Amino acid sequence: MQNILPDKYKNLPKEEVFERIRVLKEKLGDKVFILAHHYQRDSVYQFADATGDSLKLSMLARDNKTADYIIFCGVHFMAETADIVNNGQRVVTLPDATAGCPMADSAKDKDVRRVWDEITNILVDETICPITYINCYASLKAFCGEHGGTICTSTNALDVVTWGLSKYDKVFFFPDQHLGRNISKIYGVPRDRILQIYHRRPGLGVSHEELRRAKVILWDGMCPVHDRFMIKDIEEAREKDPEINVLVHPEVPEEVAAASDFMGSTEFIIKKIEAAAAGSKWLVATEVHLVGRLAKQHPDKDIKLLGKPICMCSMMDRTTPEHLLWNLESIADENVVNQVSVDKSIIKNSKLALNRMFEITKLKDEPKLYFEKSASEVSSD
Ligand code: 13P
Ligand code: SF4
Repeated sequence: MQNILPDKYKNLPKEEVFERIRVLKEKLGDKVFILAHHYQRDSVYQFADATGDSLKLSMLARDNKTADYIIFCGVHFMAETADIVNNGQRVVTLPDATAGCPMADSAKDKDVRRVWDEITNILVDETICPITYINCYASLKAFCGEHGGTICTSTNALDVVTWGLSKYDKVFFFPDQHLGRNISKIYGVPRDRILQIYHRRPGLGVSHEELRRAKVILWDGMCPVHDRFMIKDIEEAREKDPEINVLVHPEVPEEVAAASDFMGSTEFIIKKIEAAAAGSKWLVATEVHLVGRLAKQHPDKDIKLLGKPICMCSMMDRTTPEHLLWNLESIADENVVNQVSVDKSIIKNSKLALNRMFEITKLKDEPKLYFEKSASEVSSD
């Protein structure tokens, strides 16, 4: 299967690419449903039939009834999720098949299963709920389904962790340590009962005593984009301007989350900026494409990315309008490229885990505020 953009698309004038996409979208109509994550570049995002964070997009993929094809402008785990939830009714494609997620890559199936065996062999008398962030391979979603666990996204993580801790003695959370730690603290797990393990170290780098004491056990993965935000940038910005509001995604390190004014999911960040007063000033700690779009959409507010480094998800950035055009043409020619197809053997259990997540999230689709400094506590509703 060819998955690298053919040369013939590489040097086309931008306007020609846009025009050909428009014509094909018109021609294919409802047969194709284009979804785009908020971290996509604007030149791709503009062609989406629907946009969202990972939770919203998974629901849109699940609920679509008209398309033959879902083109997922995002990263691989998102396209896999769309394939799982749409019951094989639609072909799902990823315009750039190489768009992965380094955080998902940090938790390999065999490593997670080995760590699970090590932990459960030590904690023989305790019940443990495996919860994976949706940023993971489909086989690990199936692993959670098999073991009575579920899945969370940045929007529903608190509801999901609450569910896990109400039913089980402990939660094993992977791959994102920062999300797991930030949300467990918000839930009220004492800091010394949130345990970081190191999956490559002998004995996972922790003692049996520490494992027994832990309420939440965290995998040692993280998002290389959100991990780059630093507390010193918040301090410097506040020194220059005490009026500034700091708004962060829950994938940031715990000290950055603690120093922020507001922490919430991607959809929450968007809603917060929409509702903000004209003239208000915001430093936002999340992916740069989204922050740049918010700044453009709200010229009456001062919106900047926190810190100096360019916190861009290079994987999200891989999808270009040329990839989208190539994907659309392949569908029109009935020779589709870059289909993402989850192995049938794991569909049942991965869907079980996703359905548990949808059930937990039901009727709670308001984007989450996890932390607000002035209130010094958290709203879980
Ligand atoms: P959301 O769940 O906020 O869409 O995040 C997905 C992601 O990859 C964030 O880095
Ligand atoms: Fe993965 Fe981070 Fe990119 Fe999200 S922003 S897709 S977690 S690397």
